[in-house]
Amino acid sequence: MSTLVHSPAWQALTAHQIKISQQTMREMFCDDPQRFDKFSLQWDGLLLDYSKNLITAETLTLLLNLARQSKLDDWIVRMFNGDKINTSEQRAALHTALRAPRGTSVYVDGKDVVPDVHRVLDHIRHFSEAVRNGTFCGHTGKPFRDVVNIGIGGSALGPLMVSEALKSYGSAQLNVHFVSNVDATDLVETLKRLDPETTLFIISSKTFTTLETLTNAHSARDWVVKHLGADEVIGKHFVAVSTNLTETSKFGINPENVFEFWDWVGGRYSLWSAIGLPIALYIGINNFERLLAGAHAMDTHFREAPLERNMPVILGILGIWYANFFGAASHVILPYDQYLQHFPAYLQQLEMESNGKRIDRNGQVVDYATGMVIWGEPGTNGQHSFYQLLHQGTRMVPADFLAPIISHNPIGEHHSILLANCFAQTEALMLGKTTGEARAELETQGLSGAALETLLPYKVFPGNRPTNTLLFDQLDPYTMGMLVALYEHKVFVQSVIWNINPFDQWGVEFGKQLAGKLLPELQRKERVFVHDSSTNGLINYFLARRV
Ligand code: F6P
Repeated sequence: MSTLVHSPAWQALTAHQIKISQQTMREMFCDDPQRFDKFSLQWDGLLLDYSKNLITAETLTLLLNLARQSKLDDWIVRMFNGDKINTSEQRAALHTALRAPRGTSVYVDGKDVVPDVHRVLDHIRHFSEAVRNGTFCGHTGKPFRDVVNIGIGGSALGPLMVSEALKSYGSAQLNVHFVSNVDATDLVETLKRLDPETTLFIISSKTFTTLETLTNAHSARDWVVKHLGADEVIGKHFVAVSTNLTETSKFGINPENVFEFWDWVGGRYSLWSAIGLPIALYIGINNFERLLAGAHAMDTHFREAPLERNMPVILGILGIWYANFFGAASHVILPYDQYLQHFPAYLQQLEMESNGKRIDRNGQVVDYATGMVIWGEPGTNGQHSFYQLLHQGTRMVPADFLAPIISHNPIGEHHSILLANCFAQTEALMLGKTTGEARAELETQGLSGAALETLLPYKVFPGNRPTNTLLFDQLDPYTMGMLVALYEHKVFVQSVIWNINPFDQWGVEFGKQLAGKLLPELQRKERVFVHDSSTNGLINYFLARRV
């Protein structure tokens, strides 16, 4: 048994779970009218209501004991101080330095990195303003109308999610598009509607070696050269965000238009760096800086608030409670805000690439569950597809509901209807519907006897299903920054308790290696026999039938 599972804090939670399982949230709310006040936090325009969870004050004390036993306080200090806590790659994890205000200091290997961060931000300011006001324009002198970001994973999901989330702050003159998939359809369908003369490409790749990104970049390059003529147009229509200056210049990108970032920025934590260039182009640098300010505010909260009043800590330990003591395998993200439509996919990478690990920081295989499967869809669409399972399925799926108080599009009764659905869902998931309530409802509808008894079991809802609700005033850049940083730190809290490194991603590297090895076999077009019979069969079937 691992030290963690054997520890007094873990064992106390195991015993406590048995006790809690005999109570329902319905009873807990009846017994304590102050439950919302006790189990909610308000800070800087954010409300986190976590009262609809299977917890008592004792549960929180025990979960916080677990966090303290893991030395969470020390780990927070170490992360912010730039210690090399990404041990398998011998790197610091300093995405927090990317939103550190000018004039503050954060040291990596004895060097203050904040001046470098602001030098790159100044570069982004200068460039984004030049593109937006037309002084940096295409080869034929026309201002840019479309920006295509070519990148994948952390070099795409953050900018895509935030650009969509902050669409109401977006430029009317400049559209942003995101191409990630090596499936040519992604690029071809995007370029179909664009004019090469007014299209700017950002090649976003930390390494500038990622096969998908480089393949798309070269095809985009061919498209531009085909339409605009000579190779020298590349310098006018392509910029890069990368740490690999040798490869960007081989590609033909002017070194002045390469936006730098550093090895202490992990891909899925990089939207605050130059990887956020498409965001800055679209919403303007001042709004981008508001995004950074919101994230910095959350950093300050995470660093300074006591653990029991600390939003990322509360979200983190609640996740641990369900993953490790109730066997919950997935966690659903339900934004009641259409602008947050890509937020679940963004969090999928953030959480699953960070905490989807089975080896602990001591190199041992863990004997407890780690990262949950993250998924979700905006409400109310999800209500008409998968909420059935949330209400009446056999699995516990803890949920986060997110909603703005004020809509950017306040027409008619839309927003009240949206929020009525949001609040009603968390209430229903908590309360459920008892057999007595279902029976009374059916009787009111005129049913009785065998007809009623047959239908009755299907009309019962067990309830007791945990949810968090996050409310914010309006989805503006500052709030968006806070929300993303909130989840980044939640992931960190969980990684500390699970004793895993959330900043490496060896599982992804494996995929990159495998495809690289297999590709020549598809190009050679000869039957293969070197794999297992399934892989041989699939490759040979493909080779035989391809045109
Ligand atoms: O998805 C894994 C990952 O390594 C991310 O961390 C990274 O953002 C992405 O792939 C793409 O890598 P690169 O930015 O080097 O092209």
